[in-house]
Amino acid sequence: MSFDFRDLLSSKITKRESLYNKYLNAQLLKVLKTIDFDVTYVKGSGCYLEDINSNRYLDFLSGFGVFALGRNHPVIRDNLIAALNEDLPNLVQMEASVMPALLAEKLVALVNSDLTKVFFTNSGAESVESAIKFSRAYTKRNKIVYFNHAFHGLTTGALALNGSSEFKLDFGNLIDTKMAEFGSIASVEKELRSQDVAAVIIEPIQGKGVFEATPEFYLELSEICRRYSTLLIADEVQTGIGRTGKWFCFQHYGIKPDIVTVSKALSGGYVPVGAMITTKEIFESVYNKMEKAMIHSSTFGQNHLAMVAGLATLHTIEDENIIDNVIETGDYLIQRLRDLQMTSEIIKEVRGRGLMVGIEFKEPKSLVAKGRFKLLESAKKGLFSQLIVGPLFSKHRILTQVAGENMNIIKLLPPLIATVQEIDQFMYAFEDVLDDAVNSSSLMIDFGRKLIKGAKEYRQI
Ligand SMILES: Cc1ncc(COP(=O)(O)O)c(C=O)c1O
Repeated sequence: MSFDFRDLLSSKITKRESLYNKYLNAQLLKVLKTIDFDVTYVKGSGCYLEDINSNRYLDFLSGFGVFALGRNHPVIRDNLIAALNEDLPNLVQMEASVMPALLAEKLVALVNSDLTKVFFTNSGAESVESAIKFSRAYTKRNKIVYFNHAFHGLTTGALALNGSSEFKLDFGNLIDTKMAEFGSIASVEKELRSQDVAAVIIEPIQGKGVFEATPEFYLELSEICRRYSTLLIADEVQTGIGRTGKWFCFQHYGIKPDIVTVSKALSGGYVPVGAMITTKEIFESVYNKMEKAMIHSSTFGQNHLAMVAGLATLHTIEDENIIDNVIETGDYLIQRLRDLQMTSEIIKEVRGRGLMVGIEFKEPKSLVAKGRFKLLESAKKGLFSQLIVGPLFSKHRILTQVAGENMNIIKLLPPLIATVQEIDQFMYAFEDVLDDAVNSSSLMIDFGRKLIKGAKEYRQI
């Protein structure tokens, strides 16, 4: 083999920081350093990552939900290696290959609704872009309604549906949208009355903040969308593929969305892939004559490696009863957190389903902890949650994330293969960190100072 990436990697690994700074997003590196997250990872296996010094990290972030089956699952890997060894005739483009039809058939069976057609993409945002285009073409209307806190990706169409204005500031005019209040039917109906709304898009459980509405809300939302001939898009890019204890989160509520978007976990953690799943009627409103056979397409959309990764992922989730595991470990995690909430002065709420869990913090009562909370919050709203996430990582080597800007909520997205032992490992660390946060350990004081200094730099150009 003339070129071997491993030689290049091992000769350059110690230059990681300077190369990243020079060629990639230097601001991201600064943020990682501020919160003590900057580590050179060299391996990943199951629920764990390993760094260059052989430290192991429990990964409760899962690449924002990509690693449902953990890292480097042997079945996905072996299937991908087999696909490479087969020298498959990939991306012929002027062909109708069976491979995407096989993955489409599987997805349609699992969605188990009236949705029978699939368009494959390479990411979550592209799946959302497809949903926007198809709903506009079908309804001959322009506007899309989304919710506060929503996150549907950062391409320009998906960006228009973002529930946090900070994301949009620098990027000019976006498509025609209206924001409704998550959980309020009146607020949605107000927008639908004008009868110019093509679709309402909803993450059944919102990724930012892990907010879920009442069961009645989803039923009423579905009903008013029908009443105003507006399509309902369930964006399951994060909640789909077993994350919440069903194949798709909308299945908890007995509703029938017109379009479902997926991505992340479908990749098996290896090959980017996304999909938009919809009805025959909506699909064929776009592909309605031969002349329009390519009117919506993507060069890499149905590539064979992505299709193999998707098929291997879905079959493995079935073969290994992963969804049963999500229900069992998810309930256990949520129960343990709720038990802790009873005795904790800083946990406000524990919410979520399956292995998508949010923990919201509140101002503590005891004097010293309260003072620190206020100090952090005056430096930057939501900074307190960073005080939890930071030591979980630096002291206990557990990777978690804050659930969004300006909110004191952390989000747990463990791999769906996580066991009770991993949940126990997390709970032990979490209790210790909460204890430190309330009792002002010296580690917390130092880290708090560092965060406040970082927060000041955060907004400077
Ligand atoms: C619900 C939802 N939709 C869409 C996206 C965008 O996906 P991607 O980052 O693959 O474009 C995300 C990403 O986090 C998401 O959570």
